[in-house]
Amino acid sequence: MRVAHVTDIHVLVAPSFGECFNKRALGAANLFLAGRKSHFTREVQEALVTAVLAQEPDVLACTGDLTAMATDAEFEEAHGLLEPMFAAQPSVLIPGNHDTYVRQAELERSIEKWFGSWTGEGDWPRLHVHGDVAFVCVDVCRSAWILSSGSADTDQLTRLDRMLAEVTQPFVFVLLHYPLRGRDGEPYGPWTRNIENAPEVEAVLARHAGRIGAILHGHEHHGFRTQMPAEPPVPILNPGSGGYADLPDKGRRAHFCVYTVEDGRMTDIERFAYDGTGFSPEPGGPWASGG
Ligand SMILES: [Fe+2]
Ligand SMILES: [Fe+2]
Repeated sequence: MRVAHVTDIHVLVAPSFGECFNKRALGAANLFLAGRKSHFTREVQEALVTAVLAQEPDVLACTGDLTAMATDAEFEEAHGLLEPMFAAQPSVLIPGNHDTYVRQAELERSIEKWFGSWTGEGDWPRLHVHGDVAFVCVDVCRSAWILSSGSADTDQLTRLDRMLAEVTQPFVFVLLHYPLRGRDGEPYGPWTRNIENAPEVEAVLARHAGRIGAILHGHEHHGFRTQMPAEPPVPILNPGSGGYADLPDKGRRAHFCVYTVEDGRMTDIERFAYDGTGFSPEPGGPWASGG
């Protein structure tokens, strides 16, 4: 089975004045005044869709941040752009902190309104099974939260513990929006951007380390690969943003990954990088570029 992994596409639509309130106003200021708008481009996002479709994966996994400010306009735009990519094969999707940016978005469950076919519904974590591969999808994003940090509540951790104990598939992906570890294997920080109780999340995952094939995440837009210390260690994989503007002189390029799983083992990792016109295999192999 080949599993494509995309993350942090960040479809951006300029908000109306009416939408510029509370946290979104800060987001708008950050995105437009500080120039972040130019960090993500439609050209690259469209190339990402084309490239993922060309790979014909068996499953597509997305670790969130489809939008920038979780407005209706952005979800509609993101749906128009991304629906063909998600619909071409079974797909699994979790929100990122930018998809639950304000309380309104969470209350209206915007991501489930537009992408519910792939998020599923009900309590988190959510289990998706495709073939002999399980996808355990965790959501620790908070809305109306001034920081970009997340938190896993006790109920979700209890359900996660039980789900991992009961899953029977020989290969399990755990999907998290946030990194657990930084690129050198250190606990991920700063505290304004991480899961505030990441050690508790890790403790649950570590209890089932032998069952987890890999942890997939995004949030950090320069991709990296590391591992969670456990017995055995668990690979942690972040392709990097799939919608990043092409600014190679600043070290910014969009990426996505394709993982091959055979007989309960990951046998290959391919990482594709935007090359100015489309996506091609990263020169030197996955993460050889360093970010
Ligand atoms: Fe992001
Ligand atoms: Fe994020």
